Amino acid sequence: MSENLYDLAIIGSGPGGYHAAIRGAQYGAKVALIEKSKLGGTCLNWGCIPTKALYTSAHLIEKIEEANDFGIEISDFKISFAKAVERKNKVVQELVEGIEALEKGWKNDIYYGFGKILEGNLDTGFKISIEGEINTIIKAKRVIIATGSSPALIPAFNIDHDKILTSDDILDPNFKTVPERLLIIGAGVIGCEFANIFSTFGSKVTMLEYLSSPIATEEPMIVKVLQKKFAKLGIEIHTSKNVLSVENTGNVVKATTCSADVPRDQVENAEKDIFEADLCLVSIGRAKESKSIGLENLGIETDRGAIKVKPDTLETAVKGIYAIGDVTGGIMLAHVASYEGDVAVANALASIGGFPVDEMKTDYKVVPATIFTSPNIGSVGYRRKAAKSLGFEVLMGQFPYQSLGKAKCMGEEEGFIMVLADKTNHKILGASCIGAEAPELIAEIALAMQHGLTIHDIAETIHSHPTISEMVLEGSEAVVGKSIHKKGRPIHH
Ligand code: NAI
Repeated sequence: MSENLYDLAIIGSGPGGYHAAIRGAQYGAKVALIEKSKLGGTCLNWGCIPTKALYTSAHLIEKIEEANDFGIEISDFKISFAKAVERKNKVVQELVEGIEALEKGWKNDIYYGFGKILEGNLDTGFKISIEGEINTIIKAKRVIIATGSSPALIPAFNIDHDKILTSDDILDPNFKTVPERLLIIGAGVIGCEFANIFSTFGSKVTMLEYLSSPIATEEPMIVKVLQKKFAKLGIEIHTSKNVLSVENTGNVVKATTCSADVPRDQVENAEKDIFEADLCLVSIGRAKESKSIGLENLGIETDRGAIKVKPDTLETAVKGIYAIGDVTGGIMLAHVASYEGDVAVANALASIGGFPVDEMKTDYKVVPATIFTSPNIGSVGYRRKAAKSLGFEVLMGQFPYQSLGKAKCMGEEEGFIMVLADKTNHKILGASCIGAEAPELIAEIALAMQHGLTIHDIAETIHSHPTISEMVLEGSEAVVGKSIHKKGRPIHH
């Protein structure tokens, strides 16, 4: 058994952990990165990246179907999901190799195995066992837990990884099936992204959602546009459905539901609906990966699996041990995990001393979010209802893609942007967008919000013409009735 002393040991190499490892090395720290499975974690192997690779294939199909309108006659074309999956696998593989090369380039040691914190404190450092191909123990002055999350499993849903699947199963490199009928339980972000992909590849998709709306976290007006598009694609969304059980009968999958309004104790006698399909995807949220990593050895507290951290510093109850990303149960987004990696590394290294970095405090006031359905969705800051309930007087500007020259040229006329501003000072409170490049557009708003800018700061910035970025300009101008390509009334003092 060998014992190495590191400045930082990072458990988990998702976008939180691998990012933190590189950041640590940039400050001159000696870093150990521990991974039980694949570098890049969920985002790179079973999440953001593989879905976007498949989405790109699906989007291309959509474009090819419109080719005639653009003057290209395509009399026949064949779709191969297997080939799209192979491309997706290649994209993932290359990025995983890229991360390995980056970590090695920064002289970070990668340990493949299951990391568990055994004992330790600020004075002695922490002992971590790693069980994998090689069993070893390392020692580190500070530890960052970045173990992430995994698909939530409900016993009654009988996830058998055969016909009743999680997103991990569907994104497995060997999963190459397009089911004739796909049932998706949970119309959240993952459910909607897969519904879009599989419906474009030819599945008849049915979605069951407990709440009264799909992706209930987004602006209702934005969701309406998506619902309209999904209806056009033939995707059925059944909302307010309580899914009671899911069974693999051998030939098909059957889900039994009742209305979500039925009280729990009356479910047995309630009227039931049965939905049948060839495959079922369960996408109802994610569970935190905090088991067996030694938290109990040190007295680190969890709440339903989420590691409790000090919100400002991301330090756990044990000094010198930090937690970042999904495992803390905060905002479960890859880019938030990476950002938290920066904060934890800064605080860990500042507490050791001698590194060129100061302590950092978290700041979550501006977190962009994106959903890769077709059309794409991007949002940042407050939703209108939330801003109003916090007491803001909210001004709203809207601008449709169909009025934008570049969008028309591209044949991307679906959707709109809405920009919210504080009536008292015209500072941007948030924005939501559905349409072409929505996630990219939101980045400009995020930068403006991060720096407390107003809609006028955006309006006074020259935006290149013709570009999709003019959606942000026109949307911001629309807040005060100054959008050029939208009818309005004269402005009075
Ligand atoms: P989610 O929380 O977005 O959606 C889960 C949905 O399932 C919710 O609408 C919920 O009401 C519904 N639900 C829960 N239990 C149910 C039941 N028993 N029956 C029917 N419906 C039920 O979780 P999801 O989609 O699994 O995504 C997990 C995480 O991954 C999220 O935090 C999400 O932000 C993140 N993610 C981010 C992406 C992106 O940034 N583009 C892409 C995919 C996931």
